Amino acid sequence: MTTATLIRPVRDDFPGLVTADGQPWHYLDTAATAQKPQAVIDATLRAMGADYATVHRGVYARSADMTLAYEAARRRIAAFIGAPEQELVFTRGATEAINLVAHAWGGTHLKAGDRILLSVLEHHANIIPWQMLRDRTGVEIDVCPLTAQGLIDLDAAERMVTPAHKLVSLAHVSNVLGSMLDVRRAVALAHGVGAKVLVDGCQAIPRLPVDVTAMGADFYVFSAHKIYGPTGIGALWARSEILESMPPWHGGGAMIDRVTFERTTYAPPPARFEAGTPAIVEAIGFAAAVDYVESIGIEAISAHEMALTAQAREELRRLNSITVFGPEESAGIVSFALDGVHPHDLGTILDEEGVAIRAGHHCAQPLMDWLGVPATARASFGVYSDESDIAALLRGIERTKRIFG
Ligand SMILES: Cc1ncc(COP(=O)(O)O)c(C=O)c1O
Repeated sequence: MTTATLIRPVRDDFPGLVTADGQPWHYLDTAATAQKPQAVIDATLRAMGADYATVHRGVYARSADMTLAYEAARRRIAAFIGAPEQELVFTRGATEAINLVAHAWGGTHLKAGDRILLSVLEHHANIIPWQMLRDRTGVEIDVCPLTAQGLIDLDAAERMVTPAHKLVSLAHVSNVLGSMLDVRRAVALAHGVGAKVLVDGCQAIPRLPVDVTAMGADFYVFSAHKIYGPTGIGALWARSEILESMPPWHGGGAMIDRVTFERTTYAPPPARFEAGTPAIVEAIGFAAAVDYVESIGIEAISAHEMALTAQAREELRRLNSITVFGPEESAGIVSFALDGVHPHDLGTILDEEGVAIRAGHHCAQPLMDWLGVPATARASFGVYSDESDIAALLRGIERTKRIFG
């Protein structure tokens, strides 16, 4: 079975997938940021052009229409993850969403001596906000180890959590290894000791079906640009009663009920957490990206990427002198090392071949320490990836081997 037949051909939907001289570009850096389909570009252009106006304030028809479109975008994105619209807060991205939770929820509900459980494979965005909270409040951070394959070790997590743990914050899919978290089990073990659960869904949202209600977590965060939408926008989902219990973190327009110099009262969520003029155009583009994904089907995308990942892992391993990291079953992402060649050199030679990979620590330095390497080469797939991308990657690696003797 060829993986490319799992879904309709979509490469032509993505104008970015050609090089400057019109050749196919083998873009294997979707985990960093996804290319954009024309439908998202068109929706964004319309929102920035003929439809453009502010939201929530204007008394004229264009602004009222834009307000409806902005709130429809929220509804659309919330529905995509199985949530009611009032539980979806627009943020600048996953990073800002985690910082929001650390400030507004952590700063209110956590105190010195409370504990937070993270894991070795977390992105820096799911480490540093908690360290900053630790420095402010005296909470303690524990780190769950990984299994030998590179999955978050939930047996270990089960042994580690205690009633002092108030939060378990884990990646749904590792941005380096593609490891997938059993969210329901993580939720069960955290809730068993009364801890809340934050799931960093940045890498899961474009490649796995996500239903936050069925998962039972407390917070879910993601970025639009990873799911074929614009940069500069993302989302925090949290259950209503949790959002209600959180004070605002940014002050300004649009997040208030009534302001006097003596006292200000705040709007209910989600507006409470969206101070200032929002990312209007980006929200429209975000919803268009969700529409695009749904037009193909997230299950189909998931199967497509899993198949490509399995194929890439197998073919990479067949080349001598390659170490492939991470679990066999991984979602759309594979990290590897070529003996005797720094990933940056590999990335540079691959670039000459029209193949774009990521080389570096991937904002996951503790995971690099665990792997015992300063950096990895990473290939990551999207809806538009196919076997030609894997073939180009392998050709480029062979050439690199020849260059390095
Ligand atoms: C797992 C994970 N978490 C968080 C982030 C941060 O996302 P953003 O930079 O869009 O805020 C990323 C981005 O690479 C990621 O892969």
